[in-house]
Amino acid sequence: MSSHLLSVDSLSRDHVDHLLRVASRMEPIAQRRKVTRVLEGAVLGNLFFEASTRTRVSFHAAFCRLGGSVCDTTGFTFSSMAKGESLYDTSRVMSGYCDAIVMRHPDQGSVAEFAQATNVPVINGGDGPGEHPSQALLDLYTIDKEFTRLGKTLAGAHLLLTGDLKYGRTVHSLIKLLSLYAPMRITLVSPPGLEMPSHLVDLVASRGHRVELRESLASDFSDLDVIYTTRIQKERFTEEMMESFSGVSQDFTIDRAFLDQRCNDTTIVMHPLPRDSRPGANDLNVDLNGDPRLAIFRQTDNGIPVRMAIFATLLEVEDQIEKDLRDV
Ligand code: CP
Repeated sequence: MSSHLLSVDSLSRDHVDHLLRVASRMEPIAQRRKVTRVLEGAVLGNLFFEASTRTRVSFHAAFCRLGGSVCDTTGFTFSSMAKGESLYDTSRVMSGYCDAIVMRHPDQGSVAEFAQATNVPVINGGDGPGEHPSQALLDLYTIDKEFTRLGKTLAGAHLLLTGDLKYGRTVHSLIKLLSLYAPMRITLVSPPGLEMPSHLVDLVASRGHRVELRESLASDFSDLDVIYTTRIQKERFTEEMMESFSGVSQDFTIDRAFLDQRCNDTTIVMHPLPRDSRPGANDLNVDLNGDPRLAIFRQTDNGIPVRMAIFATLLEVEDQIEKDLRDV
């Protein structure tokens, strides 16, 4: 693994397996049943130039659970970027103050550009429609935990990725991670114009997975193991796209009726969140709240141990944490 986490492209299957094993070891600390102060004195720079709840707060909490402190900056308004400071200068300055940096930015590629000027590890917390590697790692960790509970394996599993597959950065990172594993069946369903980029479809197919593209959810999904649905990212639409999207009448909502009528009792439902609860939104219906197949809040809880594992590996403190787990 490189000294930054900018894209899942830097992760081999061994790296991913290792990170998930470390995340599992972090669970007692994440749940405060065990304590470590391994990052005492270390400072995380948490730079979020685009809206966030989960990623920002869970990276913050993960660093604190390891004993460190966090400096937060949210939005351009309260950063000197509002005065015209470049990514390069911001990066060079921040790396003198912090031991690690998490950054979210609306422009694809901006976090990688920022990382070029630092001396400390940088984690991509989401770069526009590009990637969201820590989310994909926690998604894979969640699938693994859910499958262990249900007695399933990833090999041969059937996964449905649906919603905004064009701008949804979490699915871009996730499908690349999944492609590292034994062949599975991946069905992609999205509104017209919001399809998964073709280079990602080609990559997954070239690694031996069965990939199917469909335009509607009106099919039999009785063998489905995972539904991963995403919000339509209208904030990334051009005016022209907004107009053409308003004419789409098809329903892409995942709700209880869809699960009961088309799926099975062990199909789990995931979503990176936030789900859009405004009138007219159609990603994930609240009528599934309380249904054990809805894994979204187990998924968000998994963000803490997975992000602790990312810090532990990037900052090379795994051995010290293992010692603390034994001693405390
Ligand atoms: N999943 C995710 O990135 O959520 P936030 O936008 O709230 O960080």
